[in-house]
Amino acid sequence: MKTIPTLELEHLREDLEKTSTIELKHGEKYRTSEWYTGAGDIAHKKDGRSFEVTATYTLRAEVKVMEGVFDPANPTLAQIYNSRGRCVAIVDQTVDELYGKSIRNYFECHEIPLEMTAFRAWEADKTPETVHKILAVLGKDGCDVSRNEPVLVVGGGVLSDVAGFACALQHRRTPYIMVGTTVVAAIDAGPSPRTCTNGKEFKNSIGAYHPPVLTLVDRNFFRTLATGHIRNGMAEIIKMAVTDDPVLFELLEEYGPRLVETHFATLEEDKVLTEIADEVIYRALYSYMKHEGTNMFETYQDRPHAYGHTWSPRYEPAAKLMHGHAVTIEMAFGATLAVELGWLKPAERDRILNLCGELGLSVFHPIIEDIDLMVEGQKNMRRKRGDGGLWAPLPTGIGACDYAQEVPRELFETAIKAHKTVCAVFPDGGAGKEMYLKDLGLE
Ligand SMILES: NC(=O)c1ccc[n+]([C@@H]2O[C@H](COP(=O)([O-])OP(=O)(O)OC[C@H]3O[C@@H](n4cnc5c(N)ncnc54)[C@H](O)[C@@H]3O)[C@@H](O)[C@H]2O)c1
Repeated sequence: MKTIPTLELEHLREDLEKTSTIELKHGEKYRTSEWYTGAGDIAHKKDGRSFEVTATYTLRAEVKVMEGVFDPANPTLAQIYNSRGRCVAIVDQTVDELYGKSIRNYFECHEIPLEMTAFRAWEADKTPETVHKILAVLGKDGCDVSRNEPVLVVGGGVLSDVAGFACALQHRRTPYIMVGTTVVAAIDAGPSPRTCTNGKEFKNSIGAYHPPVLTLVDRNFFRTLATGHIRNGMAEIIKMAVTDDPVLFELLEEYGPRLVETHFATLEEDKVLTEIADEVIYRALYSYMKHEGTNMFETYQDRPHAYGHTWSPRYEPAAKLMHGHAVTIEMAFGATLAVELGWLKPAERDRILNLCGELGLSVFHPIIEDIDLMVEGQKNMRRKRGDGGLWAPLPTGIGACDYAQEVPRELFETAIKAHKTVCAVFPDGGAGKEMYLKDLGLE
């Protein structure tokens, strides 16, 4: 067999070195979609028999707060779908009943064919089966929606999670535009990079990181939302205020109860409250996307917005709590724990608990006295977040947080006792209003 001398081989490799950085610049390459770009490097290793590839992928995602998404005078969606010749939309069944007519009217006025399918989207429907059903629509005839055609998704957090996940699977990545119709979907689940379904044992355990390329936030949808769901959404705004935005916290202290009562100034004409509602939504979104949108693959664990989400995933389904109430119970307990650790002043803890209480959100549930359950929840979360630590955000002031890496059993016992005492002055021991799941289809 003929052998090639080493020197000749090295010479041969010179041409490969020239192509070690692959930049896919707009104009030079055909881009799959206008929202995604990428670049990569490939480098030989010294052994001459291996090489390493690094690649980055960049997403451009936009979030817009606006009024009248489906008002025919609003050109936003028409401009996107006009050139594509149609709009494929996935909507929540309840939203279809309430807003289907105006959605259809919008596209009719702009002479854009609309292919809209409604899906029931209760918590119980957050399953791989629903994702398959949505995929059957997106991939009808084997391959229908193309990989640069943004799917329009209109609904609450359940639909944004399952439809976003279906888009992540269609052609491995198909862009989508999100119109969140609940408070949770508008400021949190909607623009979120985390799409998913519930697994058999764990909530949100199967999914993909696939944020919408455009999120349109229109609080007018909140007019028809049950007050319990408005309150539920407030929990996620408090989370952002406590860990990241003291001004947002003060706005909630002053105007929060009125925002719940008026469904974010949609049930009453009030100019000042309307401006406050827009500001609260904008600040919550900005804080969320500043941390979560820029850490799209959860590459980093120091995430302020995990506040309220470390121990609650274990007790939330066990106690059949609404998500927002489960989160505020953990946030309130977390504040007491932070006081026990010397991280937070008691007066600041009281402000956090009082805000939750004023909005009718729970600050205590006896399930957190089950120390075994709390320890088990912590173990699960540690496993999920990896070997690096627990990374449980706890407040160090209003608008700031640090991360606890482990809460020993004895500290749980002391802190939970202390928390129960603090909550004893609240009506019903801090139960809040409508803390239990009702209409989400769970047994
Ligand atoms: N991906 C994320 O980062 C993220 C973040 C927060 C929450 N979530 C998930 O979001 C889900 C909760 O979302 P949600 O609170 O929006 O609940 P949801 O989607 O179940 O909506 C609540 C109810 O309101 C109805 N509805 C929706 N819009 C309406 C409107 N404008 N008027 C009247 N009724 C309307 C829905 O049909 C549903 O019955 C949970 O599954 C949670 O895990 C995900």
